[in-house]
Amino acid sequence: MDIPILTLDGPSGAGKGTVSRLIAQKLGWHYLDSGAIYRALALEITEKNVADAGIAEIVEVALAMDLVFECGEDRLVKLNGQDITDLLGLESTGNMASKIAAIPEVRAALLQKQHDFKQAPGLVADGRDMGTVVFPEACYKVFLTASALTRAERRYKQLKLKGIDANLSKITADIQERDQRDSERQFSPLIPAADAVYIDSSDLSIQAVVEEVLSLVR
Ligand code: C5P
Repeated sequence: MDIPILTLDGPSGAGKGTVSRLIAQKLGWHYLDSGAIYRALALEITEKNVADAGIAEIVEVALAMDLVFECGEDRLVKLNGQDITDLLGLESTGNMASKIAAIPEVRAALLQKQHDFKQAPGLVADGRDMGTVVFPEACYKVFLTASALTRAERRYKQLKLKGIDANLSKITADIQERDQRDSERQFSPLIPAADAVYIDSSDLSIQAVVEEVLSLVR
C-alpha cells in the first residue's frame, strides 16, 4: 500500500509547524519540518564560513550534513552531533535560510533528505513546496496562510513570551520581505498546489485549524 502523505505549505507564521506537529501526533504519523533542513544548512554554512562561497561549496556542505530529528516531549535537532534546536529558531537563521533556498542546486541537494521522511504509517510534511515539488503525489494537500500582520503579531507575542525584545513593525517588514522572496523566486516558489485546500488561519484558533485539516484525512 502506498504511504499516505499530508502536505501543509504556506508562509512563515501561518501556524503550519504547530498544526503539523499536532496532526502528526494525532495520526501517529512521521513529521517533516522541511524549513528546519534549510535552517540547519544556513547555520552550517555560516559555521563553515562558506556563506559567501560558490554554489558548489554550499551544495557540498548540504550533502554532507548529518541531521537528526529526535521526537520526544520536546523537539531536539542535532547537526553533526551538536544540539542546534535553539539556534534554528533565530530570525537571522530564517532569513539566511530563505536566501539559500532560492538556489535550485541547493534545493536539489536537500531533496533526498526530505524524501527519506516518507515512511509508514504516514507523513505530515510542512514547508513551502511540499505539495508542489517534494511530494506532488501526496493524497492530502493544504495551503495554510494568514495575513502578514496576524503572522507578525503571533511572532511578536512568541518573542515577548521568551523575554526577547521585539519590534512589531520590524517583524512585519521582515515577514513581508521573506514572503516576497519566497513567492517570487523562480524555483519552487511559495504557491498553493492546484489540488490543495486553502485555509486562512487569521481568525481561527489552532484547534479549529487542526480539526479542519483532520476532517480532510478522516
Ligand atoms: O518554515 P521556515 O520559516 O522554518 O523556513 C525557513 C525558510 O526556508 C523559508 O523562508 C523558505 O525560504 C525556506 N524553505 C523553503 N522550502 C521549504 C521550507 C522552507 O524554501 N520547503
